[in-house]
Amino acid sequence: IKNIGVLTSGGDAPGMNAAIRAVVRSGLYYNLKVTGIMRGYEGMVNGEFINMDRKSVANIIQRGGTILKTFRSEAFRTTEGRAKAYEQLKKNEIDAVVVIGGEGSFTGAHAFIQEYNVPIVGIPGTIDNDLIGTDYTIGYDTAINNVIDAVDKIRDTAESHDRLFIVEVMGRDSGLIALRSGIGAGAEAILIPESRTNIESLFKRLEEGRKDKASKIIIVAEGDNMGGFEITSLIKERFPNYDTRLSILGHIQRGGRPTCADRVLASRVGVAAVEALLNGRKGEMIGSVNGNIHYTPFHNAIKHISEVNPYLLKIVDILSL
Ligand code: F6P
Repeated sequence: IKNIGVLTSGGDAPGMNAAIRAVVRSGLYYNLKVTGIMRGYEGMVNGEFINMDRKSVANIIQRGGTILKTFRSEAFRTTEGRAKAYEQLKKNEIDAVVVIGGEGSFTGAHAFIQEYNVPIVGIPGTIDNDLIGTDYTIGYDTAINNVIDAVDKIRDTAESHDRLFIVEVMGRDSGLIALRSGIGAGAEAILIPESRTNIESLFKRLEEGRKDKASKIIIVAEGDNMGGFEITSLIKERFPNYDTRLSILGHIQRGGRPTCADRVLASRVGVAAVEALLNGRKGEMIGSVNGNIHYTPFHNAIKHISEVNPYLLKIVDILSL
């Protein structure tokens, strides 16, 4: 391997820049050429390549987003698109690729390596934390800290007006952002797709909850079977005496400076990804489990996590008394 391509794909995640920096600097450390592929797989199909040197990744470790930009490429989903991408890699003498992204990105990588003999490894970069084979994905820690910052602020106004707030957080298919940030923010209840919302039991909790506690926070994952709007209107109907508001946090969760945990994780797996390619590994996501580097084949990494630790849900019940 002489020339490694690096790209970011899918939703951006804080810490992706730290991962790009780690791939570029470790590539150069091992005397490789490193090529940046712009706009994810779309740039691979269209041949949008830039040469990366030490300076091109200077002063980015602290920045959210991704300097390589990102895209959800329709072209790469097709066999013709992937054939074009392969031609571009050949033409530009890129002989291995590091893909930084989540489920969709690794699904694309998996399809590509079935068709072409190009070594690809993945780095888990998504705020959703929904990949198997790593304790945490890059961006998750920053996102949950963004959520608790926002909920702390919402609490000030909720408390002042004696209001009940439904706060909807990201996680299209996963409740992991909701679960952890909900515990961290001291939410009264957490509604996630993994434990399908039973509205009657939520009502019961609200009825049985402390009457002297005027403000309440309920965190709902975007992917919950009901979602923020529906739950808010059902609560308003059932509890007309509550002053209820809905707040959808949206994309502020994905922005901002990555936390130290995300920067360190990104640096660690970034170096390990380059070393993995040099050691002949391919078709795997490079994660971190219990502090150790862990290799998971793409098709296993993207298997949907359908269960969460039930003890964490119990903690919410115990602590919201
Ligand atoms: O996968 C990351 C994520 O932020 C999900 O939590 C969310 O559902 C989705 O991306 C939003 O995507 P977009 O930025 O395209 O609206």
